[in-house]
Amino acid sequence: MAGATQHAHWSSRWAFIMAAVGSAVGLGNIWKFPYEAGQGGGGAFVMVYLLFVFFIGTPMLVAELSLGRRGQLSPVGTMKKIAQEEKKSHWWGLIGWSGVVGAFIVISFYSVVGGWTLAYMVKAAMGSFSGIDAATAESTFVGYISDPVMTLVSHFAFMAITIFIVAKGVQGGLEKAVTVLMPALFAILIILVIYSGFTGDFAKTIDFLFNPDFNELLYKPNTPEAIAAGAPAQRFSFDMVLQALGQSFFSLSLALGSIMTYGSYLTKDVKIGRSAVTIAAADSSVALMAGLAIFPIVFAYGLDVAGGGGLVFMSLPIAFGQMPLGIVFGTLFFGLLAVAAITSSISLLEPPVSYVEEKTGWNRRKVAITMGVAAGVLGILSAYSQGTNMLADVRIFGLNIMDAKDFLTNNIMMPLAGLFTALFVGWFVTRKSMMEELAMEDKTFRIWYFLARFVSPTAIGIIFIKLIYDTIVG
Ligand code: PHE
Repeated sequence: MAGATQHAHWSSRWAFIMAAVGSAVGLGNIWKFPYEAGQGGGGAFVMVYLLFVFFIGTPMLVAELSLGRRGQLSPVGTMKKIAQEEKKSHWWGLIGWSGVVGAFIVISFYSVVGGWTLAYMVKAAMGSFSGIDAATAESTFVGYISDPVMTLVSHFAFMAITIFIVAKGVQGGLEKAVTVLMPALFAILIILVIYSGFTGDFAKTIDFLFNPDFNELLYKPNTPEAIAAGAPAQRFSFDMVLQALGQSFFSLSLALGSIMTYGSYLTKDVKIGRSAVTIAAADSSVALMAGLAIFPIVFAYGLDVAGGGGLVFMSLPIAFGQMPLGIVFGTLFFGLLAVAAITSSISLLEPPVSYVEEKTGWNRRKVAITMGVAAGVLGILSAYSQGTNMLADVRIFGLNIMDAKDFLTNNIMMPLAGLFTALFVGWFVTRKSMMEELAMEDKTFRIWYFLARFVSPTAIGIIFIKLIYDTIVG
């Protein structure tokens, strides 16, 4: 991709869509979405998540792609440049900053989980899952994430691949890889859904994922002390709604500068609105398919739906251990999941790299290695916060290090950056500039403008005000 002097572009609209889908579809869909849905009460979480994807996420995709294309710089440079063109404060550059810093934090733990997929690909190929039961699947996973050497090896292997691709410039290799491998992942997911559907508890899965119980989402249990002091057993809370909002951004690669950076490589002839809808639709279908593949096994084997980050790694190996050709399917699945994770991680390394490249004028290779290694080192903290590993007992506001980084980015930085991006395109950039950049039909533009200008800021604002209120009032 581009050096600082000459800004490169995608070779075609299809290449861009594939790269953007490659960025969007990743661990967020297959690892994070199912376990968050599990913790968030199933159907209610899924429904709120989908609403956010289509009414806030997709309009934000449009906003970020068009800002990126207009600015043609790193997220920081782009935001400053457009603010200047529109005669607005240079402080808008902070949105870009938050993206660059957020992406750096996210890739530091994303790469750890990316490493898990590589390790699981090897385990599957070696036949380690043959005939395993739920208890063995769990002890295998916990044993692995608690191993200080193995987790580091896989984390740095994953980071090395990411650095290698980003250093080379993503265009050639990435474009080719995604056009073949993304459809392959899709195909294998379909096979898994069918297999789980026949052998696992499909009826319960459908009920769990699509029959919302909003009570689970909007109320959470009070603390024992509060109940003792006379409070009701449950209290109204937006926590899960905020989680779903953050997840919709995370899954669409929003608010971390990734999509904005990809937008900067877009040519003028690409229709941004239509592309955004395609990306969002592909992304949500993969997430739903992952849920449909995983939960039948979770229910059939009595695994804990709210078990957290190990869910995929503890459920699917049981299925691979029993199905015909399980070794082949297992290896393929984790291999393709690793590929999906890599096409996302390169888009996470891209914003920090494009920013540092722009600032220092160093060559791309040097920047990619420096930033990648730095994020890798920061990631050691996340890797060691898992299972019974060395830092497992460290708590930040009650969360382990990996979950704390996730909370900070997913639930705070990303929704805030999204809020300000919506305010920026809706109220600070002129309507005329946006119309010109988007070149949409009048009606489509009006719908987008309404969503970006009113719906997104109001929805995100309400969630935040409630959160601040809860924090202060307790
Ligand atoms: N969207 C990616 C996923 O779902 C993660 C990601 C987030 C990538 C933000 C880039 C930017 O796995």
